[in-house]
Amino acid sequence: MSPSTVITHISTLATCDPTLGEGPLGLVRDAALVIEGERVVYAGSAAGAPPADNRVDAGGRAVIPGFVDSHSHLVFAGDRTEEFNARMSGRPYAAGGIRTTVAATRAASDNTLDANLRRHLAELHRQGTTTVETKSGYGLTVEDEARALAVAAAHLEEVTYLGAHVVPAEFADDVAGYVDLVTGPMLDACAPYARWVDVFCEQGAFDGDQARAILTAGAARGLIPRVHANQLSYGPGVRLAVELGAASADHLTHLTEADVDALASGTTVGTLLPGCEFSTRAVYPDARRLLDAGVTVALSTDCNPGSSFTSSMPFCIAVAVREMGMTPDEALWSATAGGAAALRRTDVGRLTPGARADVVLLDAPSHVHLAYRPGVPLVAAVWARGELVPA
Ligand code: NIG
Ligand code: FE
Repeated sequence: MSPSTVITHISTLATCDPTLGEGPLGLVRDAALVIEGERVVYAGSAAGAPPADNRVDAGGRAVIPGFVDSHSHLVFAGDRTEEFNARMSGRPYAAGGIRTTVAATRAASDNTLDANLRRHLAELHRQGTTTVETKSGYGLTVEDEARALAVAAAHLEEVTYLGAHVVPAEFADDVAGYVDLVTGPMLDACAPYARWVDVFCEQGAFDGDQARAILTAGAARGLIPRVHANQLSYGPGVRLAVELGAASADHLTHLTEADVDALASGTTVGTLLPGCEFSTRAVYPDARRLLDAGVTVALSTDCNPGSSFTSSMPFCIAVAVREMGMTPDEALWSATAGGAAALRRTDVGRLTPGARADVVLLDAPSHVHLAYRPGVPLVAAVWARGELVPA
């Protein structure tokens, strides 16, 4: 049997299991958490905790589940500092900037892509993220998309095929030809590495019919759809995602009533990416409107070199609370259990017996401090699958 560890003297434990404590976060005061091997075996009052081999004193601080970042683009080379600099001087964000990263990524070696991904993952872990989804989308050839996914799959369980990120320059006059490639030979090469298929459904990227063809082809190969939807303008992305039973529709910056109704009536999670609006000086999505309509909302970083070069879930939580109408409780739920819902996972994003022992100790008496103390490094310790992550 694996050795067990009890974390004691927890001021506030957010379990994200409403059967274990107060509210949707399942909050327990004066709590203890016991982990054994990779799993949680007890989450509840300190008084009721079973004995364990090892003991960690939380010192009256808060414990939360590791964050679940359900949307990132981490297989790339180069950066877009100049583009960001120009944007902060007034230039708008446009989908075309993606091609800059495509050129740098194609030119990079496998080792460079792998090292870059590992560096970003380490950065995510240090900030409390223990489950990460990432996508291809900066290769846009059969070979470059497949190698991006192979690099991602070497480190991650949640890998998404995004051959339909933008139309690469060499297909600028033959978009139909590129869709044929994405739904044909590129899909054949990529499907073995991926769990999900995604498309950037947007003016300047792929329209509703093209997106439908790409997601349907992916689904026929066993990949589950998720969609970049309604980021830069109103459009068909959200309704298409719901119609196809996508796991998640992401961005949701420009929504009609019909879009909100569609999300509320379906099973598709609405994933909001505040780092993106922050870094593109765009209007924030209205999380309050979605929550009040009954939509399941996830929060994610969208970490990528163009529109949102942050790996910090605490930053996203702070912005979501300040700018998007979320309460601190809702933001924490969306960054943990909500992300898990967007990835159709029940073993992460919550601290309940049987769940993966992905645990974050905060340097704060409660999770509310994640929004109350923006920009302050509050992640004191992280356990991933029961192992303490080196600081
Ligand atoms: O999710 N919207 C499309 N894709 C990314 C941006 C990628 C880039 O600009 O490099 C996003 O924001
Ligand atoms: Fe994205």
